[in-house]
Amino acid sequence: MPRPIQATIDIQALRHNLSQIKAAAPDALVWGVVKANAYGHGIERVFEGLRAADGIALLDLAEAERVRQLGWRGPVLLLEGVFETRDLELCSRLNLWHVVHCEAQIDMLAVHKTHQPHRVFLKMNSGMNRLGFAPQAFRAAWTRLNALPQVDEISLMTHFSDADGEKGIAAAMSIFHQYTHDLSGERSLCNSAASLRHAKDLAVRADWIRPGIALYGSSPDFPLHSAQDWGLKPVMSLNANIIAVQHLQAGDSVGYGSAFVADGPMRIGVVACGYADGYPRIAPTGTPVCVDGHRTRTLGRVSMDMLTVDLTDLPHADVGSEVTLWGLPQKSTSQASSTTGVVIDEVAHAAGTVGYELMCALAARVPVVVKD
Ligand SMILES: Cc1ncc(COP(=O)(O)O)c(C=O)c1O
Repeated sequence: MPRPIQATIDIQALRHNLSQIKAAAPDALVWGVVKANAYGHGIERVFEGLRAADGIALLDLAEAERVRQLGWRGPVLLLEGVFETRDLELCSRLNLWHVVHCEAQIDMLAVHKTHQPHRVFLKMNSGMNRLGFAPQAFRAAWTRLNALPQVDEISLMTHFSDADGEKGIAAAMSIFHQYTHDLSGERSLCNSAASLRHAKDLAVRADWIRPGIALYGSSPDFPLHSAQDWGLKPVMSLNANIIAVQHLQAGDSVGYGSAFVADGPMRIGVVACGYADGYPRIAPTGTPVCVDGHRTRTLGRVSMDMLTVDLTDLPHADVGSEVTLWGLPQKSTSQASSTTGVVIDEVAHAAGTVGYELMCALAARVPVVVKD
């Protein structure tokens, strides 16, 4: 018998989330962002749920090849563009659109031999200081690209540093507008946070939005807003069973380092999930979990293959009980109301991180079931 742990990917939830995002930016075309193997969900697994997207955005050429192999004939965008000149050959062969964020990428295009001019997304650095041309250098880059026979349409793009926070997008938006207002081309501006929070009041029309995290059902601005606030449903659920029960007395400790010590009689369950499955080791005592649909908490340190939960107030829970680490209980995924599970953002928050990191870290050894 395999270890009793399983991740579930709910394709209906993904479709639902995509439609919620579309409703927030009704005039925009949507790039479904599937970088990092669809945020840990698996590109092949989520593909059917993204059929209603207008394009697929990702980073790796190998991921782009996988998307084409799945039969996707629509636009595919390389969010960081190419890394070396020969990558452009694959772009030509697979008809990939690509970001151009630096002079070196224009140099590569200038020497690329192709009969098929490329659609490119010219990226401005509007304050994030990661990728993109400085606002003052943007027009020169556009002019250079525009003169190349290798280049077809040029779209304009930026990525907001603070769409999820208090600072917001106003300053970045105003820089972008100032330096692009008289340039032709479609615009792509918004990630999930900007799509949900700002798409309806943008100073510039957003022809293409680029949601990632919201597609997968995690709130881009938790704890300010929960997934429920945004009407998002969890796509990934992680469930495991209790494999042992222990009874503690006052003074008894739990796990490595005796990090939790009971102050009275307790019943605890040992769960077949640890950090080697992708559960964050740093999650402290008190991180929420659900046992047979009832909320309780983790106790002590997470170990490689196991973690421990408090069953003191759950007398019916026993070996074989289902523990939801995040998402919805497996038995009822997709029918259950979102309150019967554990929101991934709560677990991430308790561990001092974000839902993105937990999804991406789901370990390869965890069996995955796709529900549609
Ligand atoms: C350029 C770009 N666009 C869109 C996204 C999607 O962002 P999110 O998952 O926050 O929606 C990312 C992710 O980091 C990105 O780097």
